[in-house]
Amino acid sequence: MTTITVKSNNVEKSLTVIEITSIEDAISKLPSVVSAFNSDGVLVLRGAELSLEDQILFTQNLGDIYSWNFASDAPQSTIDTSIYQGGHSDNPDKEYTQTNDEYVLDWHIEQVYYVHPILAGIWNMTTFTGPNGSGDTRFVDSIELYGLYSENDREFLANSIVVWDKPAPHGKGPFYTKVVDAHPVSGLPLLRVETDQGSYAMPKLHTYAGAPATEEQIARLDELLAMLKDNLNENTSIRYSQHWQQGDLLVVDLFRMYHAVMGGFSAGQRKFTGIGIRPKVYDNSMYTNPGGE
Ligand SMILES: [Fe+2]
Repeated sequence: MTTITVKSNNVEKSLTVIEITSIEDAISKLPSVVSAFNSDGVLVLRGAELSLEDQILFTQNLGDIYSWNFASDAPQSTIDTSIYQGGHSDNPDKEYTQTNDEYVLDWHIEQVYYVHPILAGIWNMTTFTGPNGSGDTRFVDSIELYGLYSENDREFLANSIVVWDKPAPHGKGPFYTKVVDAHPVSGLPLLRVETDQGSYAMPKLHTYAGAPATEEQIARLDELLAMLKDNLNENTSIRYSQHWQQGDLLVVDLFRMYHAVMGGFSAGQRKFTGIGIRPKVYDNSMYTNPGGE
């Protein structure tokens, strides 16, 4: 029925690294940033440890190009509420037992429940003192994942609306979401389906082509989503791995890229300042309508 082949030849995709010496240099290299962002959905700028002020300036310049909410004309309140601290190493009381090959944060794609979800992340790794090769962030392009399915399966996925529950800032579900959405810039179809085991209830087929799903259709979607998870976990040929260095500024399309975080570090060794981007005009409405709209 399906034609997916999971490859694991250990050869990963190479993540674009743009060398920079300063914020001015980073801004001068925006055409390369845009090119890598559009083609791959993820890239890193390396070589200058940018201050928060510089990170904001860089993001505003990129936001002007993409018409994000975080642009030169953004009010201070937008700037303040878009900045957050991350890195998964902030708990001094936690035992960090996972190794480099074990997941600290499971595969997920961001904010599937929002009608206007986060579009991009600009992550500045201000502290990275973990062992070399620890704390990798892995990325897989959802446009590419969708393209791995047969034409028949792609059509099935594109007609599927799933129901699921997950704790979210403005509710916990049930959410009704299309399995396939269109990328806001390229218009290309991609999978937007939750894979995180932290969900209260994992996505199940709710309606197919507008009609209540049959048992057979539900089982078929389960199988296709299991393949999605297998590809995320096993298919190295579609994977990017970010091997962090302190000062790395990572730019990622969070509408498009599935991602996960690996272990091997301990408390305080991995800290980043993130800027979360949303559309220029957005609200916090969620996909709670059973029609998936
Ligand atoms: Fe995430």
